Amino acid sequence: MSAFDFDREIDRYGTGSIKYGFHKTYGKPQDVIPLWVADMDFQSPPEVHEALTQYAKDGVFGYTYALPEYHEAVGGWMERRFGWCPDPEWDQTIPGVMFGVAAAIRALTKEGETVLIQQPVYPPFQEIIASNRRKLAVNELVLKDGRYEIDFEAFERQISRENVRVFLLCSPHNPVARIWTEAELRRMGELCLKYGVRIISDEIHADFALFGNRQILFPTLGEELARNCVLCTSPSKTFNLMGLQTANMWIPDPEIRAAVVKECQRSFWFGINAMALTASAAAYRHGEEWLDALCVYLEENVRLVTRRLAEMNSGIQPVTHDGTYLMWLDCRSLGMSSGKLDAFFTEKAKLWLYPGVLFGAGGPGFFRMNIGAPHSVLARAMDQLESAFRMG
Ligand SMILES: Cc1ncc(COP(=O)(O)O)c(C=O)c1O
Repeated sequence: MSAFDFDREIDRYGTGSIKYGFHKTYGKPQDVIPLWVADMDFQSPPEVHEALTQYAKDGVFGYTYALPEYHEAVGGWMERRFGWCPDPEWDQTIPGVMFGVAAAIRALTKEGETVLIQQPVYPPFQEIIASNRRKLAVNELVLKDGRYEIDFEAFERQISRENVRVFLLCSPHNPVARIWTEAELRRMGELCLKYGVRIISDEIHADFALFGNRQILFPTLGEELARNCVLCTSPSKTFNLMGLQTANMWIPDPEIRAAVVKECQRSFWFGINAMALTASAAAYRHGEEWLDALCVYLEENVRLVTRRLAEMNSGIQPVTHDGTYLMWLDCRSLGMSSGKLDAFFTEKAKLWLYPGVLFGAGGPGFFRMNIGAPHSVLARAMDQLESAFRMG
């Protein structure tokens, strides 16, 4: 039995939670289980509450900057969990990974230049390239025997022929739940070096390597690859702190760093939210046991969903799940259009999953399911799905 209570169902309706207020935003019914946006239903580690409560008690909320203790806490985590000892100088705190990704894209490319992504992928990747007036190139991932792979020939062809300047990597990959191997990362990295392409590695899900998989932070692949990349990490997914809006951008190369920092400053970003600073330091310092217990809990959730989908002969096939708390469900054998599938999940099964069609090429026919919820909630979701199938 875990020392942490991940089983507790917490009522989040009416709290301003985006996950639970979706029916208003998207015009959906309220009586559905929300399993869409990447936000978990668990309380953060107890030490985070204690640190925030203490800070709030002091009652002074002026401008803040990161003290050495903060850098020690974040750096210590990187060293213990990933064997990486970054220089605190490399770290730029940012209000969110996508803020950093956008700043890095602007710093490393000019308007009209091309950024490569691997779809299906987190929808804002495509959106942020378009909204910053850059050109999109897509290297579609390939599903082979239930597991996603990279088509390296297409990857090289695209970066050489489409004049790609930046490759925006998602590692671990949301939504296809892959933890990239060292060989895969190295091959992508070396191809980028060969063609002078910079890499932005979004590793926001890095702490969720499950089932014995190991996450390799991109800059640990060696100095040359490290200097060619901007790494984004965050305590937000790991400790469920999204509402505090904080992340870290690690940039080993001084010239790239200066350019990206300048771009952040153009938006007048120079600090860090006081509560985020406090929560992140506490989480990185004390949250290890909590996270290990959570990963075991999430593995049980993956097994629960996989088993129930098979037992009900649903025809829905989860892809091989290396990591993240987002399962990618292959629903193509149901033979329904994206619109029909959406209606089936929402109206019949009373579940709100993220439609794969939003994730770009290779997405239609798939749905993404957030399993960062108590076992009881997922069991109920599976019961509802089973009833929907029985209703026909
Ligand atoms: C791959 C990926 N990157 C970035 C984000 C968003 O990060 P942030 O809220 O820090 O901008 C998410 C959120 O789901 C994500 O899955």
